[in-house]
Amino acid sequence: MDRDGRRYFNHPTFNWLMDIYEEVMELAKRRGFLWPSFEIYGGTAGFYDYGPLGAALKRNIEHLWRRFYVIGEGFYEIETPIIGVEEIFRASGHLASFTDPIVECKSCKEFFRADHIGDRCPVCDGELGDVFEFNLMFKSFIGPGSKRAGYLRPETAQGIFVDFPRLLRFFREKIPFGIVQIGKAFRNEISPRQGLIRLREFTQAEAEIFVNPQEKTHPGFDLVKDEVLTLLPRGADEPTRWRLADAVREGIIAHELLAYHIHLTYRFLTAVGISEDRLRFRQHMLDEMAHYASDCWDAEVLLDRLGWIEVVGIADRTDYDLKAHQEASKVDLGVFMAYDKPKVIEKRKIKPKMEVIGPRFKQDAKRIVAALEAMDPDEVGDQEIVLELEGREVTITPDMFECVKVREEVSGERLIPHVIEPSFGIDRIFYAVLEHAFSEEEVEGERRVVLRLLPSIAPIQACVLPLLGARDELVKVARDVHRQLRRQGLIVEYDASGTIGRRYRRQDEIGTPFCITIDYETLEDDTVTVRFRDSMEQVRVAIDELGDWLHSELGL
Ligand code: GLY
Repeated sequence: MDRDGRRYFNHPTFNWLMDIYEEVMELAKRRGFLWPSFEIYGGTAGFYDYGPLGAALKRNIEHLWRRFYVIGEGFYEIETPIIGVEEIFRASGHLASFTDPIVECKSCKEFFRADHIGDRCPVCDGELGDVFEFNLMFKSFIGPGSKRAGYLRPETAQGIFVDFPRLLRFFREKIPFGIVQIGKAFRNEISPRQGLIRLREFTQAEAEIFVNPQEKTHPGFDLVKDEVLTLLPRGADEPTRWRLADAVREGIIAHELLAYHIHLTYRFLTAVGISEDRLRFRQHMLDEMAHYASDCWDAEVLLDRLGWIEVVGIADRTDYDLKAHQEASKVDLGVFMAYDKPKVIEKRKIKPKMEVIGPRFKQDAKRIVAALEAMDPDEVGDQEIVLELEGREVTITPDMFECVKVREEVSGERLIPHVIEPSFGIDRIFYAVLEHAFSEEEVEGERRVVLRLLPSIAPIQACVLPLLGARDELVKVARDVHRQLRRQGLIVEYDASGTIGRRYRRQDEIGTPFCITIDYETLEDDTVTVRFRDSMEQVRVAIDELGDWLHSELGL
């Protein structure tokens, strides 16, 4: 049925009309994927629990992510605290800038994002108060009393940045290297009303890739440069298909490294089940970019009710964060970058005149010469210099030194690395995967709901079903098959209640790719019927080979 351009249908159990979003959320709650947190106390917006099937599916998505970034890219995973000291977020800019403008209704006292509403309260039409900036970080205190503030991290990235000196040592003082972290982040959203799309506590999977600012390339770019992606560059009205190499050449994507990571994001999202025709990459507008980014692309997926929603941000954070932490902590976060071959450079130096300084300062002369040589001639000019020598002030007049040009061989320089950051919102991806996998069809006059999850991420990999009212002998074989498959490392359910058709539907609805039926033929030839979820086709497989067969079909 069509209403407001969206699809609605009658639910077989409940007598109301639901759109796809409601249908997916209803299924997710009913079948144990997720539900609002603290439900028995009335719940609070912006918090969701993952139930038995949801936690398994989410873990599988995260494992697949690790396969791309940890195994595929060779990045290392770390874990840092979810609470951070105030110094971190003062330096990172979150204390000052991680805010949304909000406004309170003078009548009903509801808060709203000021940039999302009009002149009057959208709930009661009351008068609105003044707009003020609200910081989205959750504040707490470390230890008793309130002397030491702590904040729940608004992104996992900062834990990686502040570990940079130790990480650099781990990588033997060489960049590039990549570090990932999968974990919870927190944002005290003003009025989250979009299920998993806007949570106050959510899971991020972030990679921070530290690179030489002059080398924003990737050895794998050559292999993907001819790939074509749907891009919506800044200023464009419509998304268009771009060959990656062309997008870099035309300056649409800033550099090869960013283009490579946009493509890697595309590969991951499609590998996890996001449908390619509902995926695009949109470049941030200049006024939309986070305070730390010089360029940012969002992977956006098309959702039924919500439209295009960001699920990944891929940003060039430049040296913003490391520079800020270096300045605040006074710890050197630079890296010595050796040149391919030494360079000869011409530079100005202060050359002290020993013939004047020696007789004038006698035993202090050596120390004065050393101090002068360490000074920057551009800061000194040809003025008098006042040096401090063991608490005494010593005046050096221009006749005691000269500024000269010298040629020096240098083997490298100290630079603060730049950071490229693909940042994945796992909960949003989880929801998008459910919605893109959700399908309904009519089979023999009945509605069949199928979650067409990719077998590699399905929470339940197979279900063993003995025939209804089967003899004890058959039930014993079914139980043996179930046990054998679990021993072989597969996540397999056992379901003996209801008609076979009904049990198939139950498994279809939660995305189980294979149902294994134990029937009377099994007793004769030790084979079972395996039914494919999507096509409903059936094949017979020998019990002995079943584990290997499933492993191979599941792509494990
Ligand atoms: N680290 C990027 C973000 O949290 O948005």
